[in-house]
Amino acid sequence: MSAAFYDQLAPFYHLLYGDWDASIHDQGAALAKLLIARGVPVGARVLDAACGIGTQTLGLAGEGYVMAASDLSPGGVARLDEEAARRGLAVSSRVDDLRTLAGAADGSLDAVIACDNSIPHLLTDEALLQSFRNCLRVLRAGGLAVFSVRDYAAIPRVHPDVRPYGLRREGTDRFLAVQVWEWDGDQYDVRMYLTREAADGACSTQVMKARYYAVTIDRLLALMAQAGFTDLERLDDVLFQPVLVGRRPGPRTVSR
Ligand SMILES: C[S@@+](CC[C@H](N)C(=O)[O-])C[C@H]1O[C@@H](n2cnc3c(N)ncnc32)[C@H](O)[C@@H]1O
Repeated sequence: MSAAFYDQLAPFYHLLYGDWDASIHDQGAALAKLLIARGVPVGARVLDAACGIGTQTLGLAGEGYVMAASDLSPGGVARLDEEAARRGLAVSSRVDDLRTLAGAADGSLDAVIACDNSIPHLLTDEALLQSFRNCLRVLRAGGLAVFSVRDYAAIPRVHPDVRPYGLRREGTDRFLAVQVWEWDGDQYDVRMYLTREAADGACSTQVMKARYYAVTIDRLLALMAQAGFTDLERLDDVLFQPVLVGRRPGPRTVSR
């Protein structure tokens, strides 16, 4: 379900931001600051394991990190490749699943990231634990995992929950994106309604559907600990949503 949702959304994903280029820059700078402070310097090898069209991948590549990027959505990865080429940034990309990270070698990375609430697309604790174990596997000793997620414990459950993104303009077209959340126990379905209005008044709406597990941050941190991460942190002042950090046991830095 996730791959189909993000394939359909890939050409329009930047419209969810008021200014996508500014967000790429700001998120890249914020994540670089976090990494540097924890012993992962510019030039280190980072995998963005839920890259989508590349908001964080492009930002960190711009900061000087050696970026690999993967995602379940082939459409997202294809758009990332175009965006990286357009900016003259080198990114090694592939389609891969967060649960397995089959394309990443053991101990090969200084950091793994998955940002903007990608992790809660894994719908069970077992799937999350499997993913965290594979993040740990691909990190070198002392390497960092960084996840940004919604704080579901702080979100009231409204039925249905209607969340507009605002009106965007591109060329002579106008776009209106609205999310609708429908709760089902600890999970919810998201419908994204994306309406496009052309200058001549021609109008079309696409409806895309995905599902999330409203897993709490306490539960995520417990699962990261169970997977073997240490030095666990919740940081609320890095991105627009909480950031969780864990370290594969080992020294903070490695000499090259
Ligand atoms: C909200 S988007 C964030 C994308 C990107 N991090 C950004 O901020 O632009 C969530 C991403 O998670 C990806 N995703 C969902 N389930 C996945 C899985 N099992 N393996 C890899 N990626 C997955 C989706 O395809 C989507 O690109």
